[in-house]
Amino acid sequence: MLIIEKKDHVVKISLNRPKKMNALNTEIIRKLADTLEELDRDSHVRAIVLTGNEKAFAAGADINELAATKPVEFVLKQFFRDWERIRTISKPLIAAVNGYALGGGNELAMCCDMIIASETAKFGQPEILLGVIPGAGGTQRLTKAIGRAKAMEMVLTGKTFSAAEALAWGLINRVTAPDEVENEALKLAHEIAAKPPVAVRLAKQAINKAQELPLDHGLNFEQNAFYLLFSSEDQQEGMQAFLEKRTPRFRGK
Ligand code: HXC
Repeated sequence: MLIIEKKDHVVKISLNRPKKMNALNTEIIRKLADTLEELDRDSHVRAIVLTGNEKAFAAGADINELAATKPVEFVLKQFFRDWERIRTISKPLIAAVNGYALGGGNELAMCCDMIIASETAKFGQPEILLGVIPGAGGTQRLTKAIGRAKAMEMVLTGKTFSAAEALAWGLINRVTAPDEVENEALKLAHEIAAKPPVAVRLAKQAINKAQELPLDHGLNFEQNAFYLLFSSEDQQEGMQAFLEKRTPRFRGK
């Protein structure tokens, strides 16, 4: 279901249900949440790339499974709990999107901190075509990401949109040729992995707070994180290296 490859401080996770366009059933989402939490605890790991295959990043939640689920079962299974676990991973996550990122697939990409997409990638929230609405952030985080007007269009029409459109709206970071997506995402992951890991984590958290909190609370979080970093060895190393005109060696402490 997942293919996991590690190189230096970077881990690549590939969703692997190719015959089902990487449809996200409960099992794959649970496995992904378990894996990400394990990597979050592994001090050697500093950045994670999440990808699919050339046809699909993920074509949404598994409709076979959804169609057979009763409302009370969603409650009893705590259906969205694993999505919350993924959303709150503290290390940087980069999505490399080829092909379809639809419904839960687009929402999973939005759980990542940055999205690199192929020029042939397709984004959409087609739940309306199934008689429902997005359930893992497709009305909330999407609206914060691209604004109300475009979110309305995406969610109310259920249409798919191109990578160029997603880029223009600010949903994704950049667009590459299809065979370059993974490399580009890995390059970015390695670049971030070379930075002081504690500062990277707190920076991620602080930026996310900007979308969640009123400004004064967000600024307060930022300032406290700023103070806290002065207790890290990497802060001393970073500033000392600057003063000594040498390259810093960050150790994640
Ligand atoms: C289950 C899926 C699936 C999905 C594709 N498949 N998407 N199975 N759930 N979301 C399966 C197909 O049934 C088919 O299986 C195989 O994958 C290949 O798909 P095709 O449709 O034959 O391929 P193609 O014609 O190329 O069309 C690709 C596609 C289309 C445009 C991506 O499959 C599609 O529209 N999929 C559904 C997209 C969608 O509605 N997503 C939102 C789901 S709801 P067989 O066995 O027939 O070969 C959602 C809610 C999120 O995400 C809530 C929060 C978690």
